[in-house]
Amino acid sequence: MTTEPVRPTQNLNDPNWWRRAVVYQIYPRSFADANGDGTGDVRGMIEKLPYLADLGVDAVWVSPWYPSPLLDGGYDVADYRDISPDFGTLADADEFIARAHELGLRVFIDLVPNHSSWEHPWFKAALAAAPGSPERDLYIFRDGKGENGDVPPTNWGSVFGGSAWHRTTDADGNPGQWYLHMFDISQPDWNWENPAVVEEFHSILRFWFDRGIDGFRVDVADSMAKDQSFPDVPINPATGWGTNDKYVGAPLWDQPKVADIQRGWRRVADEYSATPLGGRVFVAEAYLDPVERLVEYVAPGRLHTTFNFDALLSEWSAASQRVVIDRTLAAHEAVGAPTTWVLGNHDNTRVVTRYGKPVTGLDFSSHDELEEPIELTTRLHGLPTDIALGRRRARAAALLELGLPGGAYIYQGEELGLEEVEDLPEDLLQDPTWERSGHRMRGRDGCRVPLPWSGDAAPYGFGTDAAATWLPQPASWRGLTAADQDADPSSMLNLYRAALRQRRTQPEFTDGRLAWHALDGGDVLAFTRGEGVLVLVNFGAEPVPLPAGEVLVASVAVGDGSLPTDAALWLRLA
Ligand code: GLC
Repeated sequence: MTTEPVRPTQNLNDPNWWRRAVVYQIYPRSFADANGDGTGDVRGMIEKLPYLADLGVDAVWVSPWYPSPLLDGGYDVADYRDISPDFGTLADADEFIARAHELGLRVFIDLVPNHSSWEHPWFKAALAAAPGSPERDLYIFRDGKGENGDVPPTNWGSVFGGSAWHRTTDADGNPGQWYLHMFDISQPDWNWENPAVVEEFHSILRFWFDRGIDGFRVDVADSMAKDQSFPDVPINPATGWGTNDKYVGAPLWDQPKVADIQRGWRRVADEYSATPLGGRVFVAEAYLDPVERLVEYVAPGRLHTTFNFDALLSEWSAASQRVVIDRTLAAHEAVGAPTTWVLGNHDNTRVVTRYGKPVTGLDFSSHDELEEPIELTTRLHGLPTDIALGRRRARAAALLELGLPGGAYIYQGEELGLEEVEDLPEDLLQDPTWERSGHRMRGRDGCRVPLPWSGDAAPYGFGTDAAATWLPQPASWRGLTAADQDADPSSMLNLYRAALRQRRTQPEFTDGRLAWHALDGGDVLAFTRGEGVLVLVNFGAEPVPLPAGEVLVASVAVGDGSLPTDAALWLRLA
């Protein structure tokens, strides 16, 4: 399909670009493979930048591209100032940033500040050094309890399963101290009480800001600081270890000192205000409940935006979505920050599959307690999926998400309507949760399968060898490639393009507010943006008659003047 030229560059001149940016998440390992080794790379990302510009997004966020043993998909960083040789070189990264800017796209990368990889030179030095040494103080080492020190220092549980402590072996072969790892054993936690850690991260920020990075997505932005009294916590009966529930005062989550750390980063980002790209920005990853607690992270002087996981975890119903929208907007407005909207990412079941399940999320209409996202993924797995239904709803959800005030995130492949790959063979699973949970949780590989770009069979233009792709692509992706969808005016890809073009060109979408509309109620969500653009979503079984006006974009054909079930549209009211 031919498209009009799309790239106004005012994005790069607007200091408030981040308040309503649509950001596309690239998971580098699975995005595009230029050298044909079966793993995505930075040159593949460069080749696909025109595709992203044409899609109409404002920015990209690149999940970790650093040197890493990839024991947690790159969230185990061995060197914060380089590019993984699996993905390319620093020169490739520079070219990617420059080329993105030429196309009017801003660039976020990932900051992983809670932990490094155990291959980080500072952790290797810490292991080699003696207890009590300055090297060990960069991480969190403690003596064990019990007569022989063989009981972990606290009962804390790892998010990925098992104890959050691992015992080291001293040079003489005897068991030594324990180190803390909130996630995998290969991800030792930094000691943020140590000023050298604070300084090191400020220096890492400057390293990338100086290379032209526009912002950072902050991994687990509610961890880092730990309660220095190291108290035990209540046991989670499902794991036998301490709970990771984020109750107020939990020793590992949302500690008061997190605010100081974030304010320090903000000062570094603001140092760049006078540069051509303007001040740099942050988006926080924090699964924190309720949203009134989360918005502290985007209060003045702290971070800029935060992922809205309530939206991601909300079930497909008008009542639940309405609760989330109202609460989120009110909470953010109270601190003067814009909201974001999120349907998926590399940690959660793909939206097409989730919305095709008999359970589509957590029931926010009843204000259920927020569970760990991993638990939701596990809960959904094994339930039957109606993919056609899920895809129909995902189309409607895209128009809801992009029609709301604030920014939005698109996880790679969402624009192609890809489903979760739920039947990956167990021997190929790579997510550490699979092993650490004793095979109780399959983990997140099913949303990380390499993208299909072209062709009728795997590897669908992701490199040239189907046997080489780091995870196998399913036969069901035939017909869903970017090339196929480019040629089909009714495809998911062209729906996203059309919506993003409208969002960019209709002035109503720049206004940061919505007004609920008279049609709203029952199983329908209806709101207006600006004076006259109506966003209408029908969650109910019965068709809803359309008010007079011009349809700007619709998730289904609406020839007969009504909007059918599980569909959405944008309409300029007459
Ligand atoms: C974040 C990342 C996830 C990673 C974890 C530990 O939740 O999104 O992929 O496993 O942090 O770094």
